[in-house]
Amino acid sequence: MVLPRDFCDARRDAQRLAERTSLSVGGSPEFLFEPLSEAEAAETVRACRAYGVPLRVLGGGYNLLVREGELEGAVLATRRLRFQRILPDRVVVGAGVPFPGFVRDAISLCVPVVPGCPGIPGTIGGVIAMNAGGRFGHVGEAVLAVRWIDAAGRLREDTTAPADFDYRSSRFESGVVTGAVFRRDTSLDPAELKELHDTALKHKQASQPLGARSAGCIFKNPDGPHGVQSAGRLIDEAGLKGFQVGGARVSPKHANFIENAGSASADDVLALIRHVRQQVEQRFGVQLELEVRTW
Ligand code: EPU
Repeated sequence: MVLPRDFCDARRDAQRLAERTSLSVGGSPEFLFEPLSEAEAAETVRACRAYGVPLRVLGGGYNLLVREGELEGAVLATRRLRFQRILPDRVVVGAGVPFPGFVRDAISLCVPVVPGCPGIPGTIGGVIAMNAGGRFGHVGEAVLAVRWIDAAGRLREDTTAPADFDYRSSRFESGVVTGAVFRRDTSLDPAELKELHDTALKHKQASQPLGARSAGCIFKNPDGPHGVQSAGRLIDEAGLKGFQVGGARVSPKHANFIENAGSASADDVLALIRHVRQQVEQRFGVQLELEVRTW
């Protein structure tokens, strides 16, 4: 694909997305854009639309499995959108700001993020687009508004409603999240917020392989006869903890995580996903659905 030189400061990037994703697998896109501002990001979306270039959005790369080889079209990486504005009753934060750091800063800023947030990797943009979270709540519940570029390339700030968010998805995935507005409540006690934060983080550290090269939970938790079931528990009970295909293995700590245990390729990860699905379906009659996004 050939784009005009004035398309914006597009540069063909030889870098593989393996270097930008936590699973450390995957090939290179034809074009990679790293806008420095929301306006530049909007211009990129409009230009891709005008030239018919498919556009994918890359946040922190923590919930993403990229296949090997060349990826058709453009990738817009939001990691340089790192602004933060602290106002008396709210904080406006850019999509590229790392989420764990924001969750720590939220304590002294008196921003009540949901209790399940500590231990979630990624950037503000990614956790909003995918409504990251866990049993104790989802990020979407904590935001007042989302700043995003819609499919037509318009930059907007929309006040959020519960219907904007679903289990690991949001309507903002149809565009590019550029930032979020969180509520501040200075009547909250930072010491209490810190205690909640530390307790949640300790729980995650004890039950999940937080330091491993993984994409978080690979599968969604499926519905069962008595409510939602843990995919991790099903995979564990199928005896698959530690099971390995090439360099990809089911985490010995939490069975819904696939780790790159060495030099895994995307094909190793995909083969392991197929095996796990097959085993769980055979054993429990449950079809596991992917939570990670695949490119
Ligand atoms: N369990 C096992 N074996 C395992 C893993 C879990 O027996 O290998 C059991 C646990 O002992 C527990 C139950 O399954 O009794 C639930 O486990 P856990 O508390 O770890 O929660 P989960 O349902 O497996 C969900 C989210 C996580 C989130 C945690 C904590 C999904 C797919 N997973 O996991 O989110 O961190 O709750 O709130 O919704 C993610 O989405 O990437 C993710 C990590």
